[in-house]
Amino acid sequence: MNLAHNASLDNLPCSFVIFGATGNLASNKLLPALYHLEAAARLAESLTIIAFSRRDWTTENWREYMREVLKDKIKGSLDTPVFERFLARFAYHKGDLNDVESFRALADRLPPESACSSTVFYLAIKPAEFSAVIQNLEAVGLNKPRGMNRVVIEKPFGEDLESAQMLNRLLHQHFDEEQVYRIDHFLGKETVQNLLVFRFANTLIEPLWNRNFIDHVQITVAESIGIEQRADYYDHAGALRDMLQNHLMQLLTVVAMEPPPALEADALRDEKVKVLRSIRPIAKRAVHAHAVRAQYARGNIDGQPAMGYQQEAGVESNSITETFVAAKFYIDNWRWRGVPFYLRTGKRLAKQTSMIAIRFRHPPQQLFRETPLESVAPNWVLLSIQPEESMRMEIHVKQPGLDMDTRVMQMNASFLKTDEQTLDAYETLLLDVIEGDRSLFIRFDEVEWAWRVVDPILQNWTVEREFIPTYSAGSWGPAEANRLFDSDDQTWRNEL
Ligand code: BG6
Repeated sequence: MNLAHNASLDNLPCSFVIFGATGNLASNKLLPALYHLEAAARLAESLTIIAFSRRDWTTENWREYMREVLKDKIKGSLDTPVFERFLARFAYHKGDLNDVESFRALADRLPPESACSSTVFYLAIKPAEFSAVIQNLEAVGLNKPRGMNRVVIEKPFGEDLESAQMLNRLLHQHFDEEQVYRIDHFLGKETVQNLLVFRFANTLIEPLWNRNFIDHVQITVAESIGIEQRADYYDHAGALRDMLQNHLMQLLTVVAMEPPPALEADALRDEKVKVLRSIRPIAKRAVHAHAVRAQYARGNIDGQPAMGYQQEAGVESNSITETFVAAKFYIDNWRWRGVPFYLRTGKRLAKQTSMIAIRFRHPPQQLFRETPLESVAPNWVLLSIQPEESMRMEIHVKQPGLDMDTRVMQMNASFLKTDEQTLDAYETLLLDVIEGDRSLFIRFDEVEWAWRVVDPILQNWTVEREFIPTYSAGSWGPAEANRLFDSDDQTWRNEL
């Protein structure tokens, strides 16, 4: 979305290669997003897209597959001329990620350096396959021209601090930092960017945004879907690596950061890193007080029976992988010291909903003690990320009538006007990759500090392997998640 209007449009790529083109991420997110960019006429006419996968297919087979995939995944129905234009961009490349010859053949079909400025390589593959691809790209010279060809890496970047550092070293052996786009698609979501506007374009809010007025912050990313067909990845990753270390941590940094001196990629990232560095390290003995994990068992979602995690295809029958994680963090700086940040995420929860809920402190004076009202409930600011994108503020008003009684009203600032449609995060981010704008991508020190924050939790869980609490599919997670709260009057907020 060109946050800082500094994209270098003179370096538009003419090829876009998707590794893992027949995988889940490509079909759910990348292909629909590229199609929508096509429909919006945002893809340069000369751009070719190469689908790289192991399946023994021809370009014709691939096009049929795309037709099937896209008709269920795009907004609205397929527009025939747009779709035909889109199909014509694609070429299918049968290849093996571990075989350098497949990369040599790929290099042969890309336009020569002199004819074209650059290529984007999108790694829509399992983290375990990243290093083979990076090495093979280098082996056939596709890391060059240095500074031009781009490589897009999905999260999780590494599986802990050490492996993330190793992966980064490997990347930097073959690519310059300006070539690397570490994607966290939550940063492309409209509400997340709106949070910057909400905080820094409204003088009303910023003076209240600190420990003097805020009691605590909750960040919830609840999913009612299960692991879909991703057991081979998910059973090794779990909710902490899949969601909390990246998406939820990024949300936390945007809520907590100081205003950057400019809307530039590095200025924003500097502020986010400062937040991550200020998070109080969790001592080994304190892990239980700071983090709760659990796994879904059988249950009901929307009146339909849902299987437990261990019954999912491809999951080990005695797996202790967490599908739910809740954690509490403190940011030890002048703005936030003493304000708990509660984060939680899980699969097969009651609802598909993501929100940031900020609870303000009780008023200092008990002015209404002698009235029927007795005490007033605190104010909340609710930023809904999905499915609805909105911002609400809960305030008290007096109920009409003879008694001094109040009710809570929500001031609702919906981001969308009725005739507007939201963009999918991937549309924004893919366009940024193509235009060379890295503002909404992650710098390695962000990844590194986020791993430092969660590493003690992971280390503890790696040792404690005998047991994991469960929660029924369709519930709001395990009761244990309530023990994270610092005070009795704090509870999870599930609804807007
Ligand atoms: C991905 C995770 O990064 O984000 C998935 O790997 C998760 O497990 C997905 O379902 C959620 O993203 P969104 O945008 O669909 O809410």
